[in-house]
Amino acid sequence: MEDQGIPREQIFRMIRKYKEIDLTHRSGRILGSMCTCPHPVGVKAYFMFLESNLGDPGLFPGTKAMEDEVITILGELLGKKDVFGHIITGGTEANIMAMRAARNTCKVNNPEIIIPKSAHFSFRKAADILCLKLNIADLNDDYRVNLTSIEELISDNTVAIVGVAGTTEMGKIDPIEELSDLCLRNDIYLHVDAAFGGYSIPFLKETGYNLPKFDFDIEGVSSITIDPHKMGLAPIPTGGILFREKKYLESMAIETPYLTEDMQSTMVGTRSGAAAAATWALLKYLGKDGYRKIAVECMELTSLLAEGIVKVGFELVTPPQLNIVAFRSNKLSVEDISHRLEDKGWAVSIASYPKSIRIIVMPHLKREHIEKFLLDLELINHD
Ligand SMILES: Cc1ncc(COP(=O)(O)O)c(C=O)c1O
Repeated sequence: MEDQGIPREQIFRMIRKYKEIDLTHRSGRILGSMCTCPHPVGVKAYFMFLESNLGDPGLFPGTKAMEDEVITILGELLGKKDVFGHIITGGTEANIMAMRAARNTCKVNNPEIIIPKSAHFSFRKAADILCLKLNIADLNDDYRVNLTSIEELISDNTVAIVGVAGTTEMGKIDPIEELSDLCLRNDIYLHVDAAFGGYSIPFLKETGYNLPKFDFDIEGVSSITIDPHKMGLAPIPTGGILFREKKYLESMAIETPYLTEDMQSTMVGTRSGAAAAATWALLKYLGKDGYRKIAVECMELTSLLAEGIVKVGFELVTPPQLNIVAFRSNKLSVEDISHRLEDKGWAVSIASYPKSIRIIVMPHLKREHIEKFLLDLELINHD
Protein backbone atom coordinates (compact mmCIF):
# COMPACT_ATOMS: atom_id res chain seq x y z
CA MET A 1 0.00 0.00 0.00
CA GLU A 2 1.26 3.46 -0.92
CA ASP A 3 1.80 5.97 1.87
CA GLN A 4 0.12 8.73 -0.15
CA GLY A 5 -3.13 8.12 -2.00
CA ILE A 6 -3.18 8.20 -5.81
CA PRO A 7 -5.27 10.88 -7.56
CA ARG A 8 -8.72 9.82 -8.68
CA GLU A 9 -8.07 10.24 -12.47
CA GLN A 10 -5.00 8.07 -12.21
CA ILE A 11 -6.91 5.41 -10.27
CA PHE A 12 -9.50 5.16 -12.99
CA ARG A 13 -6.84 5.10 -15.72
CA MET A 14 -5.28 2.18 -13.87
CA ILE A 15 -8.58 0.42 -13.26
CA ARG A 16 -9.54 0.67 -16.93
CA LYS A 17 -6.49 -1.44 -17.82
CA TYR A 18 -7.86 -4.26 -15.68
CA LYS A 19 -11.35 -3.82 -17.08
CA GLU A 20 -10.00 -4.09 -20.62
CA ILE A 21 -8.67 -7.59 -19.90
CA ASP A 22 -12.12 -8.83 -18.88
CA LEU A 23 -14.67 -10.28 -21.26
CA THR A 24 -18.02 -8.54 -21.38
CA HIS A 25 -21.48 -10.06 -21.75
CA ARG A 26 -22.37 -7.30 -24.16
CA SER A 27 -19.80 -8.59 -26.68
CA GLY A 28 -21.91 -11.74 -27.07
CA ARG A 29 -18.76 -13.82 -26.65
CA ILE A 30 -19.67 -15.31 -23.26
CA LEU A 31 -21.64 -18.43 -24.10
CA GLY A 32 -21.04 -20.58 -21.05
CA SER A 33 -22.32 -18.54 -18.14
CA MET A 34 -25.66 -18.16 -16.38
CA CYS A 35 -24.86 -14.52 -15.68
CA THR A 36 -25.76 -11.75 -18.08
CA CYS A 37 -25.68 -7.96 -18.58
CA PRO A 38 -27.49 -6.51 -15.60
CA HIS A 39 -30.49 -4.47 -16.73
CA PRO A 40 -29.85 -0.67 -16.43
CA VAL A 41 -32.96 -0.20 -14.25
CA GLY A 42 -31.63 -2.79 -11.81
CA VAL A 43 -28.20 -1.17 -11.89
CA LYS A 44 -29.63 2.26 -11.08
CA ALA A 45 -31.67 0.88 -8.17
CA TYR A 46 -28.61 -1.07 -6.97
CA PHE A 47 -26.46 2.07 -6.86
CA MET A 48 -29.15 3.94 -4.89
CA PHE A 49 -29.01 1.37 -2.08
CA LEU A 50 -25.28 0.66 -1.89
CA GLU A 51 -25.06 1.67 1.77
CA SER A 52 -28.11 -0.28 2.86
CA ASN A 53 -27.44 -3.36 5.02
CA LEU A 54 -30.28 -5.85 5.33
CA GLY A 55 -28.34 -7.56 8.11
CA ASP A 56 -29.40 -4.61 10.26
CA PRO A 57 -32.88 -3.99 8.83
CA GLY A 58 -34.10 -1.63 11.57
CA LEU A 59 -31.77 1.00 10.12
CA PHE A 60 -33.13 0.48 6.62
CA PRO A 61 -36.88 -0.10 6.97
CA GLY A 62 -37.48 1.08 3.41
CA THR A 63 -35.11 -1.51 1.98
CA LYS A 64 -36.62 -4.18 4.25
CA ALA A 65 -40.09 -3.30 2.94
CA MET A 66 -38.77 -3.81 -0.59
CA GLU A 67 -37.25 -7.18 0.31
CA ASP A 68 -40.56 -8.29 1.86
CA GLU A 69 -42.44 -7.23 -1.26
CA VAL A 70 -39.96 -9.01 -3.53
CA ILE A 71 -40.40 -12.23 -1.55
CA THR A 72 -44.18 -11.95 -1.89
CA ILE A 73 -43.99 -11.27 -5.65
CA LEU A 74 -41.57 -14.15 -6.24
CA GLY A 75 -43.75 -16.40 -4.08
CA GLU A 76 -46.78 -15.46 -6.15
CA LEU A 77 -44.85 -16.18 -9.33
CA LEU A 78 -43.98 -19.59 -7.90
CA GLY A 79 -47.47 -20.58 -6.78
CA LYS A 80 -47.76 -19.22 -3.22
CA LYS A 81 -48.07 -15.60 -2.14
CA ASP A 82 -47.47 -16.07 1.58
CA VAL A 83 -43.94 -17.47 1.56
CA PHE A 84 -40.98 -16.59 3.79
CA GLY A 85 -37.49 -15.90 2.60
CA HIS A 86 -34.69 -13.53 1.76
CA ILE A 87 -32.76 -11.92 -1.03
CA ILE A 88 -29.24 -13.23 -0.64
CA THR A 89 -26.06 -13.68 -2.66
CA GLY A 90 -27.05 -16.40 -5.09
CA GLY A 91 -27.98 -20.01 -5.67
CA THR A 92 -25.20 -21.42 -3.54
CA GLU A 93 -26.25 -19.55 -0.43
CA ALA A 94 -29.91 -20.37 -1.10
CA ASN A 95 -29.20 -24.08 -1.43
CA ILE A 96 -27.09 -24.10 1.74
CA MET A 97 -29.90 -22.33 3.60
CA ALA A 98 -32.46 -24.85 2.36
CA MET A 99 -30.35 -27.80 3.44
CA ARG A 100 -29.75 -26.14 6.81
CA ALA A 101 -33.48 -25.59 7.32
CA ALA A 102 -34.20 -29.21 6.40
CA ARG A 103 -31.54 -30.51 8.76
CA ASN A 104 -32.58 -28.25 11.63
CA THR A 105 -36.27 -29.11 11.41
CA CYS A 106 -35.75 -32.83 10.97
CA LYS A 107 -33.35 -33.37 13.88
CA VAL A 108 -31.88 -36.82 13.24
CA ASN A 109 -28.44 -37.87 14.45
CA ASN A 110 -26.75 -38.64 11.14
CA PRO A 111 -28.56 -36.50 8.58
CA GLU A 112 -28.44 -37.41 4.90
CA ILE A 113 -29.63 -35.68 1.76
CA ILE A 114 -30.46 -37.10 -1.67
CA ILE A 115 -29.58 -35.05 -4.73
CA PRO A 116 -29.73 -35.88 -8.44
CA LYS A 117 -26.42 -36.50 -10.20
CA SER A 118 -27.24 -33.31 -12.13
CA ALA A 119 -27.50 -31.12 -9.00
CA HIS A 120 -25.24 -28.08 -8.71
CA PHE A 121 -22.00 -28.46 -6.75
CA SER A 122 -23.34 -26.05 -4.12
CA PHE A 123 -25.02 -29.08 -2.52
CA ARG A 124 -21.57 -30.59 -1.99
CA LYS A 125 -20.61 -27.42 -0.16
CA ALA A 126 -23.83 -27.63 1.86
CA ALA A 127 -23.13 -31.26 2.77
CA ASP A 128 -19.59 -30.38 3.81
CA ILE A 129 -20.54 -27.33 5.88
CA LEU A 130 -23.59 -28.93 7.50
CA CYS A 131 -22.09 -32.41 8.00
CA LEU A 132 -24.68 -34.13 5.82
CA LYS A 133 -24.12 -37.45 4.10
CA LEU A 134 -24.57 -36.90 0.39
CA ASN A 135 -26.45 -39.56 -1.60
CA ILE A 136 -26.45 -39.14 -5.35
CA ALA A 137 -29.36 -40.41 -7.44
CA ASP A 138 -28.96 -41.56 -11.04
CA LEU A 139 -30.52 -39.85 -14.03
CA ASN A 140 -32.76 -41.22 -16.77
CA ASP A 141 -31.72 -41.13 -20.43
CA ASP A 142 -33.28 -37.67 -20.67
CA TYR A 143 -30.97 -36.41 -17.87
CA ARG A 144 -33.84 -35.96 -15.41
CA VAL A 145 -33.58 -37.70 -12.07
CA ASN A 146 -34.57 -41.35 -11.84
CA LEU A 147 -37.30 -41.76 -9.21
CA THR A 148 -36.46 -45.38 -8.41
CA SER A 149 -32.88 -44.37 -7.71
CA ILE A 150 -34.12 -41.65 -5.33
CA GLU A 151 -36.49 -44.08 -3.62
CA GLU A 152 -33.71 -46.62 -3.10
CA LEU A 153 -31.56 -44.02 -1.35
CA ILE A 154 -34.21 -42.98 1.21
CA SER A 155 -33.35 -43.96 4.77
CA ASP A 156 -34.51 -43.04 8.28
CA ASN A 157 -31.81 -40.38 8.22
CA THR A 158 -32.94 -38.63 5.04
CA VAL A 159 -33.64 -34.98 5.89
CA ALA A 160 -34.08 -33.64 2.36
CA ILE A 161 -34.53 -34.59 -1.26
CA VAL A 162 -33.54 -32.12 -3.96
CA GLY A 163 -35.11 -31.67 -7.38
CA VAL A 164 -33.80 -29.24 -9.97
CA ALA A 165 -35.87 -27.01 -12.23
CA GLY A 166 -33.31 -26.09 -14.85
CA THR A 167 -30.22 -28.22 -14.28
CA THR A 168 -26.91 -26.44 -14.50
CA GLU A 169 -25.48 -28.49 -17.34
CA MET A 170 -28.43 -29.68 -19.45
CA GLY A 171 -31.21 -27.28 -18.39
CA LYS A 172 -33.61 -30.11 -17.53
CA ILE A 173 -36.59 -30.00 -15.17
CA ASP A 174 -36.81 -32.92 -12.75
CA PRO A 175 -40.22 -34.59 -12.16
CA ILE A 176 -41.08 -32.43 -9.16
CA GLU A 177 -44.69 -33.65 -8.81
CA GLU A 178 -43.50 -37.23 -8.51
CA LEU A 179 -40.73 -36.20 -6.10
CA SER A 180 -43.36 -34.39 -4.06
CA ASP A 181 -45.53 -37.53 -3.82
CA LEU A 182 -42.50 -39.46 -2.66
CA CYS A 183 -41.61 -36.83 -0.08
CA LEU A 184 -45.19 -36.54 1.25
CA ARG A 185 -45.43 -40.33 1.57
CA ASN A 186 -42.15 -40.47 3.49
CA ASP A 187 -42.52 -37.15 5.34
CA ILE A 188 -39.34 -35.70 3.83
CA TYR A 189 -38.45 -32.10 3.04
CA LEU A 190 -38.38 -31.35 -0.71
CA HIS A 191 -36.20 -28.54 -2.00
CA VAL A 192 -36.47 -27.33 -5.59
CA ASP A 193 -33.40 -25.66 -7.02
CA ALA A 194 -34.88 -23.29 -9.58
CA ALA A 195 -31.89 -20.94 -9.50
CA PHE A 196 -31.85 -20.99 -13.29
CA GLY A 197 -35.43 -21.94 -14.25
CA GLY A 198 -37.35 -19.94 -11.65
CA TYR A 199 -37.42 -16.74 -13.68
CA SER A 200 -38.29 -18.40 -16.98
CA ILE A 201 -40.41 -21.56 -16.55
CA PRO A 202 -43.52 -19.72 -15.22
CA PHE A 203 -43.41 -17.27 -18.14
CA LEU A 204 -42.77 -19.96 -20.74
CA LYS A 205 -45.68 -22.02 -19.40
CA GLU A 206 -47.96 -18.97 -19.73
CA THR A 207 -46.86 -18.63 -23.34
CA GLY A 208 -47.76 -22.24 -24.15
CA TYR A 209 -44.46 -24.08 -23.69
CA ASN A 210 -45.18 -27.57 -22.47
CA LEU A 211 -43.16 -27.62 -19.26
CA PRO A 212 -43.95 -29.51 -16.05
CA LYS A 213 -45.08 -28.02 -12.75
CA PHE A 214 -42.22 -27.35 -10.37
CA ASP A 215 -43.26 -24.83 -7.74
CA PHE A 216 -45.26 -24.31 -4.49
CA ASP A 217 -48.40 -25.31 -6.35
CA ILE A 218 -47.14 -28.79 -5.62
CA GLU A 219 -47.98 -29.61 -2.03
CA GLY A 220 -44.74 -31.34 -1.05
CA VAL A 221 -42.40 -28.52 -2.10
CA SER A 222 -40.89 -27.02 1.08
CA SER A 223 -38.49 -24.47 -0.42
CA ILE A 224 -37.35 -23.01 -3.73
CA THR A 225 -34.12 -21.34 -4.85
CA ILE A 226 -34.65 -18.63 -7.47
CA ASP A 227 -31.81 -16.41 -8.65
CA PRO A 228 -32.53 -12.85 -9.77
CA HIS A 229 -28.91 -12.56 -10.98
CA LYS A 230 -29.45 -15.25 -13.62
CA MET A 231 -32.57 -14.98 -15.81
CA GLY A 232 -33.86 -12.16 -13.57
CA LEU A 233 -31.24 -9.73 -15.00
CA ALA A 234 -30.30 -8.31 -11.58
CA PRO A 235 -26.71 -7.28 -10.84
CA ILE A 236 -24.47 -9.86 -9.16
CA PRO A 237 -24.73 -10.95 -6.35
CA THR A 238 -28.49 -11.43 -6.05
CA GLY A 239 -30.09 -14.72 -5.08
CA GLY A 240 -33.40 -15.72 -3.57
CA ILE A 241 -34.58 -18.37 -1.14
CA LEU A 242 -38.27 -18.98 -0.47
CA PHE A 243 -39.75 -21.27 2.20
CA ARG A 244 -43.31 -22.56 2.37
CA GLU A 245 -43.47 -22.15 6.15
CA LYS A 246 -42.00 -19.69 8.63
CA LYS A 247 -40.77 -22.52 10.84
CA TYR A 248 -37.96 -23.20 8.37
CA LEU A 249 -36.51 -19.71 8.77
CA GLU A 250 -37.08 -19.91 12.53
CA SER A 251 -35.17 -23.19 12.69
CA MET A 252 -32.04 -21.30 11.58
CA ALA A 253 -32.54 -18.16 13.69
CA ILE A 254 -29.54 -17.06 15.74
CA GLU A 255 -29.67 -14.28 18.33
CA THR A 256 -28.07 -11.01 17.22
CA PRO A 257 -27.36 -9.10 20.42
CA TYR A 258 -26.23 -5.71 19.06
CA LEU A 259 -28.36 -5.30 15.92
CA THR A 260 -31.77 -3.82 15.22
CA GLU A 261 -33.24 -7.29 14.68
CA ASP A 262 -33.26 -9.85 17.49
CA MET A 263 -32.74 -12.95 15.40
CA GLN A 264 -31.11 -13.67 12.05
CA SER A 265 -31.63 -16.71 9.79
CA THR A 266 -29.35 -15.87 6.87
CA MET A 267 -25.87 -17.35 6.46
CA VAL A 268 -24.18 -13.97 6.18
CA GLY A 269 -24.58 -11.10 8.63
CA THR A 270 -24.11 -7.87 6.72
CA ARG A 271 -25.91 -8.30 3.42
CA SER A 272 -26.73 -6.20 0.44
CA GLY A 273 -29.91 -4.14 0.44
CA ALA A 274 -28.94 -3.07 -3.08
CA ALA A 275 -29.68 -6.59 -4.34
CA ALA A 276 -33.23 -6.44 -2.96
CA ALA A 277 -33.74 -2.95 -4.41
CA ALA A 278 -32.53 -4.01 -7.85
CA THR A 279 -34.77 -7.08 -7.82
CA TRP A 280 -37.74 -4.97 -6.73
CA ALA A 281 -37.13 -2.38 -9.45
CA LEU A 282 -36.81 -5.00 -12.18
CA LEU A 283 -39.90 -6.94 -11.16
CA LYS A 284 -41.88 -3.69 -11.31
CA TYR A 285 -40.23 -2.30 -14.45
CA LEU A 286 -40.27 -5.40 -16.62
CA GLY A 287 -43.45 -6.91 -15.23
CA LYS A 288 -44.71 -10.28 -16.41
CA ASP A 289 -44.79 -9.07 -19.98
CA GLY A 290 -41.12 -8.02 -19.97
CA TYR A 291 -39.90 -11.27 -18.41
CA ARG A 292 -42.16 -13.29 -20.71
CA LYS A 293 -40.58 -11.65 -23.78
CA ILE A 294 -37.06 -12.26 -22.44
CA ALA A 295 -37.73 -15.93 -21.68
CA VAL A 296 -39.38 -16.55 -25.07
CA GLU A 297 -36.61 -14.75 -26.97
CA CYS A 298 -34.00 -16.92 -25.26
CA MET A 299 -35.95 -20.06 -26.17
CA GLU A 300 -36.32 -18.97 -29.82
CA LEU A 301 -32.58 -18.36 -30.07
CA THR A 302 -32.01 -21.71 -28.36
CA SER A 303 -33.97 -23.45 -31.14
CA LEU A 304 -32.03 -21.52 -33.79
CA LEU A 305 -28.75 -22.52 -32.15
CA ALA A 306 -29.72 -26.16 -31.66
CA GLU A 307 -30.85 -26.54 -35.29
CA GLY A 308 -27.72 -24.76 -36.53
CA ILE A 309 -25.42 -27.01 -34.49
CA VAL A 310 -26.91 -30.10 -36.09
CA LYS A 311 -26.75 -28.51 -39.56
CA VAL A 312 -23.02 -27.80 -39.26
CA GLY A 313 -22.31 -31.41 -38.31
CA PHE A 314 -22.38 -31.73 -34.53
CA GLU A 315 -24.61 -33.86 -32.33
CA LEU A 316 -26.99 -32.56 -29.66
CA VAL A 317 -26.68 -34.45 -26.38
CA THR A 318 -30.39 -34.05 -25.65
CA PRO A 319 -33.23 -31.87 -26.94
CA PRO A 320 -33.13 -28.58 -24.99
CA GLN A 321 -35.94 -28.15 -22.46
CA LEU A 322 -34.84 -24.67 -21.40
CA ASN A 323 -32.28 -22.25 -22.87
CA ILE A 324 -29.24 -24.52 -22.60
CA VAL A 325 -27.77 -26.45 -25.53
CA ALA A 326 -25.23 -29.25 -25.06
CA PHE A 327 -23.43 -30.77 -28.03
CA ARG A 328 -20.45 -32.91 -29.07
CA SER A 329 -18.78 -34.27 -32.15
CA ASN A 330 -17.88 -37.72 -33.40
CA LYS A 331 -14.54 -36.51 -34.76
CA LEU A 332 -13.30 -33.85 -32.32
CA SER A 333 -12.88 -34.12 -28.57
CA VAL A 334 -14.84 -31.74 -26.42
CA GLU A 335 -11.59 -30.09 -25.25
CA ASP A 336 -10.51 -29.69 -28.85
CA ILE A 337 -13.78 -28.00 -29.78
CA SER A 338 -13.54 -25.74 -26.75
CA HIS A 339 -9.94 -24.70 -27.54
CA ARG A 340 -10.69 -24.03 -31.18
CA LEU A 341 -13.69 -21.93 -30.23
CA GLU A 342 -11.60 -20.08 -27.69
CA ASP A 343 -9.05 -19.29 -30.43
CA LYS A 344 -11.90 -17.70 -32.35
CA GLY A 345 -12.89 -15.62 -29.33
CA TRP A 346 -15.80 -17.69 -27.95
CA ALA A 347 -16.01 -18.59 -24.26
CA VAL A 348 -18.01 -21.80 -23.99
CA SER A 349 -18.08 -24.16 -21.04
CA ILE A 350 -17.64 -27.92 -20.78
CA ALA A 351 -20.39 -29.98 -19.17
CA SER A 352 -19.18 -32.89 -17.04
CA TYR A 353 -22.16 -35.24 -17.50
CA PRO A 354 -22.27 -36.10 -20.22
CA LYS A 355 -19.04 -34.53 -21.40
CA SER A 356 -20.07 -31.94 -23.95
CA ILE A 357 -19.90 -28.30 -24.93
CA ARG A 358 -22.55 -26.37 -23.07
CA ILE A 359 -24.05 -23.10 -24.20
CA ILE A 360 -26.45 -21.07 -22.14
CA VAL A 361 -28.52 -18.77 -24.28
CA MET A 362 -28.75 -15.85 -21.88
CA PRO A 363 -30.52 -12.56 -22.64
CA HIS A 364 -27.26 -10.84 -23.70
CA LEU A 365 -27.08 -13.13 -26.73
CA LYS A 366 -28.68 -11.85 -29.91
CA ARG A 367 -29.40 -13.49 -33.26
CA GLU A 368 -26.24 -12.03 -34.84
CA HIS A 369 -24.07 -13.60 -32.11
CA ILE A 370 -25.63 -17.02 -32.69
CA GLU A 371 -25.24 -16.74 -36.46
CA LYS A 372 -21.57 -15.69 -36.16
CA PHE A 373 -20.94 -18.52 -33.71
CA LEU A 374 -22.48 -21.09 -36.06
CA LEU A 375 -20.26 -19.90 -38.93
CA ASP A 376 -17.17 -20.39 -36.74
CA LEU A 377 -18.41 -23.78 -35.56
CA GLU A 378 -18.81 -24.88 -39.16
CA LEU A 379 -15.23 -23.76 -39.94
CA ILE A 380 -13.95 -25.72 -36.96
CA ASN A 381 -15.64 -28.86 -38.20
CA HIS A 382 -13.97 -28.53 -41.63
CA ASP A 383 -10.49 -27.43 -40.43
C1 LIG B 1 -29.16 -24.91 -10.73
C2 LIG B 1 -28.15 -24.07 -10.03
N1 LIG B 1 -28.22 -23.93 -8.70
C3 LIG B 1 -27.34 -23.18 -8.02
C4 LIG B 1 -26.32 -22.51 -8.67
C5 LIG B 1 -25.35 -21.69 -7.89
O1 LIG B 1 -25.61 -20.34 -8.08
P1 LIG B 1 -24.55 -19.22 -7.69
O2 LIG B 1 -23.38 -19.40 -8.59
O3 LIG B 1 -25.33 -17.97 -7.91
O4 LIG B 1 -24.20 -19.42 -6.26
C6 LIG B 1 -26.21 -22.61 -10.06
C7 LIG B 1 -25.16 -21.91 -10.77
O5 LIG B 1 -25.00 -21.97 -11.94
C8 LIG B 1 -27.15 -23.42 -10.75
O6 LIG B 1 -27.06 -23.60 -12.08
